[in-house]
Amino acid sequence: MKPLRFLVTAGPTREYIDPVRFISNASSGRMGFAVAAAVRAAGHKVTLIHGPVERPPPPGVRAIPVVSAAEMLASCTTAWPECDVLIMTAAVADYSPAVASRRKLAKSARELTLRLRPTADILAALARTRRPDQTVIGFALQDVDARRRAADKLKRKRLDAIVLNRPANIAADRAVVEVLTRDGQWRSWPPGGKTAIARRLVNLALKLHAAAH
Ligand code: CTP
Repeated sequence: MKPLRFLVTAGPTREYIDPVRFISNASSGRMGFAVAAAVRAAGHKVTLIHGPVERPPPPGVRAIPVVSAAEMLASCTTAWPECDVLIMTAAVADYSPAVASRRKLAKSARELTLRLRPTADILAALARTRRPDQTVIGFALQDVDARRRAADKLKRKRLDAIVLNRPANIAADRAVVEVLTRDGQWRSWPPGGKTAIARRLVNLALKLHAAAH
């Protein structure tokens, strides 16, 4: 089989309020880095676009570090046309300060209101511009009404599959996930380490990609 090119995103993004403060989340990047390593182990190529994380990229991976959602969008938009499969594990910040102060904000005794703007939905943007030969897999982090919300997201963002993640999986070693494919089939994978889940996910991506050809 000819090696495919995977685009994998990982980790959080940071949305700066001033030069030293930012909005972000607790994503460790572990899932995305495990996916990138699993792609390499399966003999395929991978570009890993990741937010600020505390771990070195797996060997053999083309890693592109970014900071903000806007930077992740720009890097992904450049890389996507050359790729066959997207696996979007990044915990992209949904909002960014409407104005970032160039100077450090000084403390005062008054209330402070931050105005936030939604960031671009990178996954939806890349899925919108996909060619029929490209496969797109997204993640959903849900607690209540989880399956229904994940199914809505798969449809709305035009994905081939969506991985339903739970808040307890964030920054954890092990994860419990369920996966929905476009044909409406749910798969419940046994709880496992992120390496095992990443391997399953790469196998599924390869299967979906092959089925579309
Ligand atoms: N995502 C993205 N760009 C964003 C936000 C999210 O590409 N600005 C991607 C994530 O990488 C993930 C998927 O979209 O693959 C799900 O994220 P989102 O739509 O934000 O949903 P959740 O955070 O899972 O849930 P909710 O809709 O409740 O916020």
